[in-house]
Amino acid sequence: MAGMSKDAFLHELLGRMSVEEMAGQLNLLTGAMDATGMKHSDDLEAKIRAGHCGAVLNVYTPAATRALQELALASPLGIPLIFGYDVIHGHRTIYPIPLGLSCSWNLDLIGRCARMAAAESAADGLHWVYSPMVDISQDPRWGRVAEGAGEDPWLGAQIAVAMVRGYQGNDLADPTSVLACVKHFALYGAPMGGRDYHTVDMSRREMEDTYFPPYRAAIDAGARTVMTAFNDIDGIPASANRWLLTELLRGQWGFQGWIVTDYTAVTEMKNHGTAATDADAARQSLEAGVDMDMVSEAFLSELPALVKSGAVREEQLDAAVLRVLETKWDLGLFRDPLARCNHEPVIHSTAENRSLAREAARESMVLLKNEGEILPLSKHQNIALIGPLADSRRDMLGCWIAAGDESLAASPLDGFREVATVVHAQGCGISEANEDLLADAIRAATQADVVVLVLGENWQMNGEAASRTDIRLPQCQRELAKHILQTGKPCVLVTMSGRPLELTWENSQFPAILHAWALGTEGGHALAEVIFGDAAPVGKLTMGFPRSVGQLPMTYREKPTGRPFNATEKYSSKYLDAPNDALYPFGHGLTYAAFDYGPVTASCTEMKPGEPITVSAEITNRTGHPATETLQLYVRDLVASVTRPLKELRGFQRITLDAGESKVVSFQLTDADLAFPGPDYQPLTEPGDFVAMVGPSSASVGCVRFTRTAING
Ligand code: BGC
Repeated sequence: MAGMSKDAFLHELLGRMSVEEMAGQLNLLTGAMDATGMKHSDDLEAKIRAGHCGAVLNVYTPAATRALQELALASPLGIPLIFGYDVIHGHRTIYPIPLGLSCSWNLDLIGRCARMAAAESAADGLHWVYSPMVDISQDPRWGRVAEGAGEDPWLGAQIAVAMVRGYQGNDLADPTSVLACVKHFALYGAPMGGRDYHTVDMSRREMEDTYFPPYRAAIDAGARTVMTAFNDIDGIPASANRWLLTELLRGQWGFQGWIVTDYTAVTEMKNHGTAATDADAARQSLEAGVDMDMVSEAFLSELPALVKSGAVREEQLDAAVLRVLETKWDLGLFRDPLARCNHEPVIHSTAENRSLAREAARESMVLLKNEGEILPLSKHQNIALIGPLADSRRDMLGCWIAAGDESLAASPLDGFREVATVVHAQGCGISEANEDLLADAIRAATQADVVVLVLGENWQMNGEAASRTDIRLPQCQRELAKHILQTGKPCVLVTMSGRPLELTWENSQFPAILHAWALGTEGGHALAEVIFGDAAPVGKLTMGFPRSVGQLPMTYREKPTGRPFNATEKYSSKYLDAPNDALYPFGHGLTYAAFDYGPVTASCTEMKPGEPITVSAEITNRTGHPATETLQLYVRDLVASVTRPLKELRGFQRITLDAGESKVVSFQLTDADLAFPGPDYQPLTEPGDFVAMVGPSSASVGCVRFTRTAING
């Protein structure tokens, strides 16, 4: 290797490989430290020894990865392995679930969290994380909304970029960098009925408008790997969809990295009914543009014969193998294959990492309601902390916790106890009523000055394979809430979940509701800070909370119809039994302050091509203390050659104002901000009338109109 260029080295190596060894490089097997599918990899060690495995998932720690890496190095060609893992929201130190963290609207913070996860993973022997999940979703019945950044493609794209940069850093060979894996390509967030793994049927326009932007942004930011989705697209499973993987992703978007399938997605094509045999499935998948087969082992078992018979072109196999080998080179694996596993286990959850996790937790909470300013609570009173999640460390971590350690996590009770006098009562199970627990809880509430109820989903109720048709709080928890409210004690509701919930009843009963997702290792401490006012909530929803599950799927980015909503006109677009809008819309989130918004103004009424326009609004902090607000900018194209949403996010700014301070906040709108996929799906900016809107949420905006002229001058 000494002195050889990357190209020469890789081609020389390729020239020495048998077809079986080539298929081996495309074979991703699972170890036993975790599992996310039905099939497991048998004979992992024997396959590594024979050179029939190119990468391994679900094995971490320096010792465990070293043991396998040494086997790979002793295989005939000695090609090192890549180790991958589902590091979704932290590796050892867990920060809020991605949907929660997205509510911080803090790209710098999100990037720092990804960097921390990368460093912890790399120190644990890993090279590759299966994140970011950038699937847009408008349907909280789908349990995997927990892993994404919500409903908005523009914000989703910014978050995707921050995460890719955080994981990959500037150089993959940096010992704290890992490969990012953008998933799930594509459209996985739109399964019919919100049921996981279900069919996706979507127009090309909706793909381009809503679902593609975050994947595209992640690719443009340099993400090295992409994972296919389980679903089909226009009748062809994503893992065998040549249009998607080769024409669009590689061809139009210029993706240079490698594509891995999701877990057993190759052989699942037999279940989709588009392949009769493993050989069919492997051929379709490789020909579509897939490079690596996760756990199916169909590439390993079928590709050699397919190549020998001429059914698969050898160049196709060469190209896939070269992509994988090139990544191994870039990771420095050929130079120093044991670099990430040649040390003793390191202490991961350092004070610094925990402090970042706490900052992230603090910023992810969303204050949904605070009537009569009941929050923040005074620490100097008797507090009853009640509910099945009030003392659960595991549920504070949430779904997909990689190597996160529950014993290091802080529950709400852990956090409250450090700062206040608290009586705790469980009240009920997550889904089971219990009379004794209920009686204890009523007693605790009666004796307290104020009650904090912590209700919601446990960690198994969201994430993969956790779709729900009823997204209310479980019945027993609503019963508990009723009994506690009947005590007449002031009562604050803290909700935890991995998805937007239907909180219509709770909204009508509780003066204050704080949504706390699953906040991670430091969740309990951060929650106490916000409840007692040591920190103010700053989060804004990135996915609306519906009034009723019957409204789903829903988004604030809805398009105009031919019969717009009109409360008094029967033949207009509406429900007979519910309003159209969300209970808590996209962008909503209160803080411990109130603001006044002045009128929205534009720097001119005519915007010329190539010249940005400035949109401004004055905001005043009406309270007697400093406060932080995130202002949002939305636009609407009033007449275009294709239908455009009534509102689309195009900017946001977080500002902090002193007591009584006013500030003019300005946004620049450029041609690119007004562009949309035209009739041929290519980006287009048209002349005509537009509305720019500024406000504290998608449902509360002031607006100004302007015209974009056809020509300059
Ligand atoms: C999930 C992926 C995950 C993979 C590996 C699959 O079931 O859909 O998101 O990365 O398992 O664990």
